[in-house]
Amino acid sequence: MKILVINGPNLNMLGIREPDIYGRQTYSDLENYIKSVCAEKKIECEVFQSNHEGVLVDKIQAAYKVFDGIVINPAAYTHTSVAILDALKAVAIPAVEVHLSNVNEREEFRKLSYAGMACKKTYAGYSFEGYKKAIEFLAENFSKA
Ligand code: DQA
Repeated sequence: MKILVINGPNLNMLGIREPDIYGRQTYSDLENYIKSVCAEKKIECEVFQSNHEGVLVDKIQAAYKVFDGIVINPAAYTHTSVAILDALKAVAIPAVEVHLSNVNEREEFRKLSYAGMACKKTYAGYSFEGYKKAIEFLAENFSKA
């Protein structure tokens, strides 16, 4: 199984940005965590981050016929991007939404998720572990191997 993990804007600032909300571990810690989860489960994975909406759309489109599953934390674009929603729908690759923080217990505007409308499941508020849960969900339900 091949999984693409996509992280949106400002997640590269993990460890620096709002540590009371997002913790003190860095983006590189997150990448290493995701890679070790996948290695343990013998899942091939690519971890990608961009601050740019169009680049995220391009990456989702390029996943067509290449990846069997997508784990996506669209960060702020979660709440604004119909383009990311449409890209996920276009490729129709099973996708799971992840948020480090519990978006449902924060500001009202964070309760709306466009990307989530194209996702099979959402894990919010589990910090790094949400990515593990998402990878496990995809492996259990959508592995072709
Ligand atoms: C986030 C939650 C979003 O509302 C926020 O804009 C982010 C990070 C999270 O992982 O908790 O940048 O997606």
